[in-house]
Amino acid sequence: MDRFLINGPCKIKGTINLSGSKNASLPILAATILFEEPVEIKNLPNVKDIRTMLDLIKSLGFIVKKNKINNSIIIKKKNIKTFASYSLVKTMRAGILVLGPLLSKYKKATTSLPGGCLIGARPVNFHLNALGKLGMKHCIKKGYIYANAEKGLKGSTIKFPKISVGATENAILAATLAQGKTILKNCAIEPEIKIDLTNFLNKAGAKIKWIGKRSVEIEGVKKLNSISYSVMADRIECGTFCVAAVISKGEVKINGLNPKIISTELKLLKKIGAKIKNFEDSILIKGPKKIKSIKLLKTKEYDGFPTDLQAPFMALLCKANGKSVIQERIFENRFTHVGELKRLGAKISIIKNKAIINGNSNFEGAELMSSDLRASVALVIAAIVAKGNSIINRIYHLDRGYEKIENKLRKVGVNIKRLS
Ligand code: UD1
Repeated sequence: MDRFLINGPCKIKGTINLSGSKNASLPILAATILFEEPVEIKNLPNVKDIRTMLDLIKSLGFIVKKNKINNSIIIKKKNIKTFASYSLVKTMRAGILVLGPLLSKYKKATTSLPGGCLIGARPVNFHLNALGKLGMKHCIKKGYIYANAEKGLKGSTIKFPKISVGATENAILAATLAQGKTILKNCAIEPEIKIDLTNFLNKAGAKIKWIGKRSVEIEGVKKLNSISYSVMADRIECGTFCVAAVISKGEVKINGLNPKIISTELKLLKKIGAKIKNFEDSILIKGPKKIKSIKLLKTKEYDGFPTDLQAPFMALLCKANGKSVIQERIFENRFTHVGELKRLGAKISIIKNKAIINGNSNFEGAELMSSDLRASVALVIAAIVAKGNSIINRIYHLDRGYEKIENKLRKVGVNIKRLS
């Protein structure tokens, strides 16, 4: 199992180019199931979750051809099977996103339940209820969802009881080829959905129109046309590098993302003391001498503060000049990094879904264990400013979502090595 060896403290200085967004690529890859003709996708990040999604697409009977020169892939339909196996869906919850498109295009699907994970139970009831309203019949047996829509899916009006990224994506994908009009209310409006998935599908001929902050209208179409599409940059990767720059009191230019997309995070970093300059598709960020604490930081659905950056911000607030509180409102158990940060010297206590962070911690290198994707990157960030050697075990979690992070960090001055 690969590990990272980081020798700190390091100061980050230089330029980082962002990779394509993992969370935008996953629903776009699932959307390729809706096509008759080949689709070209560019700027996919080379991370484990994307490779798993591509394996899943292949297992459904598509041919995936890679073009290493322009880092693109072409997905082409061949002999379709509507079965998504446990072995591919178990490691990646986004596997459930093939359910909507399979039903919409092929009127049936058998999909493994994605199962729980360390950060919480993560059920799929919102996905199933929404697809049910579009005409899906299903039963669950031995960990599989057996679903069909013999007469095809039909448009409907659906209000999600709670905002869910995956359920919104699955419903949009299903409604794209359904008969008639679908209106989805109380949708997740993460840029991966409201910008990238919407643009991708509309470019192919879908009729998707956002009609309010959280409502979308989808007029079903008969078919989608062959297209070439480049995935947006990864805003969570961008936020992660911003935090790394600030904690190390460094200065970094991050290229590839429109700063407006992460304005909530940038405002917070300014409050903490960072100096930030925004350009059209890049950000220049400089860490302050003294990091200020934040009274209460709550994770929220977009355009609030993202749960995916909660762990990196916690590492940062350990270095602030006073007490901060972080409240996790999206996932019930997303504090697995706390115990590991404490090994480095963090002073954090947990009360229910709140972490109370006493700042001014001096981190000293230690041996650490990754527990999930975003928790592992928080450990990397903390180890960058810890004195001496840190070893971070089980970085396969991190490899699910960060492309060549050690190369990017090494380039800006971090002493980091992958040990295989
Ligand atoms: C997506 C992101 C993930 C991010 C999360 C929240 C991808 C591939 N993953 O995950 O990085 O952390 O959004 O921004 O884009 N829920 C239910 N029933 C459901 C669905 C969700 O109870 O059917 C609950 C979940 O347990 C969670 C909350 O709703 O508490 C939000 O989950 P959701 O937005 O669906 O997250 P994902 O799409 O899984």
